[in-house]
Amino acid sequence: ANKKPWGGRFSKQSDAWIDRFGASIGFDQEMAHEDLEGSLAQAQMLKMTKIINKKDADLIIAGLKEIENDLKEHKVNFDVRLEDIHMNIEALLTEKIGPVAGKLHTARSRNDQVATDLHLYLKHRLPEVDKALFQLQSILIQKAEENITTIMPGYTHLQHAQPLSYAHYLLAYYQMFARDRERFAFNLKHTDLNPLGAAALAGTTFPINRVYTAKLLGFSQNYENSLDAVSDRDFVLEFLNNASILMVHLSRFCEELILWCSYEFGYIELDESYSTGSSIMPQKNNPDMAELIRGKSGRIFGHLLALLTTMKGLPLAYNKDLQEDKEGVFDTIKTIIPSLKIFTGMLKTLKVNKKRMQQATEHDFSNATEFADYLAEKGIPFREAHRIVGELVLKGITEKKNLQDLTLDQMHNISPLIKKDIYAKLTSKEAVARRNSLGGTGFVQVKKQLEKAKHDLLAE
Ligand code: ARG
Repeated sequence: ANKKPWGGRFSKQSDAWIDRFGASIGFDQEMAHEDLEGSLAQAQMLKMTKIINKKDADLIIAGLKEIENDLKEHKVNFDVRLEDIHMNIEALLTEKIGPVAGKLHTARSRNDQVATDLHLYLKHRLPEVDKALFQLQSILIQKAEENITTIMPGYTHLQHAQPLSYAHYLLAYYQMFARDRERFAFNLKHTDLNPLGAAALAGTTFPINRVYTAKLLGFSQNYENSLDAVSDRDFVLEFLNNASILMVHLSRFCEELILWCSYEFGYIELDESYSTGSSIMPQKNNPDMAELIRGKSGRIFGHLLALLTTMKGLPLAYNKDLQEDKEGVFDTIKTIIPSLKIFTGMLKTLKVNKKRMQQATEHDFSNATEFADYLAEKGIPFREAHRIVGELVLKGITEKKNLQDLTLDQMHNISPLIKKDIYAKLTSKEAVARRNSLGGTGFVQVKKQLEKAKHDLLAE
């Protein structure tokens, strides 16, 4: 006979190399704690419902607690021949208390067991993701507060477009991270469901109590359908999707910081602790951490696409394909939390070269819209105003001058409506200050946005 826990109907031993291919213990030991938690709840429920007697249940419970301890003290060795964390822990329990350990698996399957473990794993870690996002938002608010009147060039197509308040720029990312947190909160709702008791796929004949196990495990609700409970991985897909969008945000932010600390831009200086030198070029100070976070976005998108692909053709209910759902989740957790923490530290410690940022807005044509608005306010249709300023820009380009450097005579040649008061409107500070439409970069609006963000964040 085959010595596997499921070996009864098998007449041959399995080949070691096939066992290794099929095993998940190499990675699902990451959920050892959750597996024990799930088993403890199962044992308590079996005892409460008298499905197994008190004496056996207490033995099982004591044994599981011992294993938890051994685990903490790193005294546990897992065996690849036992395939996964579930059968490894059952074997450890058998070593401790003998064949009575076999009663733990009454009214349970590895299918609802593995689903329970993964729900618990993610449910325990989503709050950590939320906390890291909260801390990043707090730093963004702090930096925005210090930089309401710091002027920077705003870009479209990476070309100077219109000047911005640096606080406005920072708060744009604040908003993205606020949405990320909402997405993870919604994800938590779908993770906070108890699959235990679905058994293999159809429920069980035993008088189990799923409300009790849900309560013990801290799940708010039970899955209402046993078939759904064992085959649903939507909560994982949502997580990987949310993590991917989060990484898009971090990656875009990193890209800008990388550009900004280059010689050509020089807007910021990263703290030394977040950059590295070169092994050949002595002068180098490379923004490695920002690049690495940008780079790591790729693996997270990969995990999402991998699981979407794995899931798409799967018939109900459990299929071994589902064993592929876990590594991406573990890796994503281990990637996004440190990425968030490192990014937050980088943002907190970087120095902003305010002078250089503002200067970059003073020798360009990013005040051209101001000029056109000025003419439009005098009643000229905006399209016409746009054309007039376009001509002035062309004149400026040929004479190597910016708009504010053209004389009033030169302006008059193109439009007599232009008066001396135009010059005051052409400074970048003024251009920012006057953009006070709702959600605009004007200082008054930015202050309002900041107050609301602070209020929302502190209200939690
Ligand atoms: N190691 C398996 C997994 O990760 C556990 C579930 C196995 N269930 C089964 N019917 N083979 O999905």
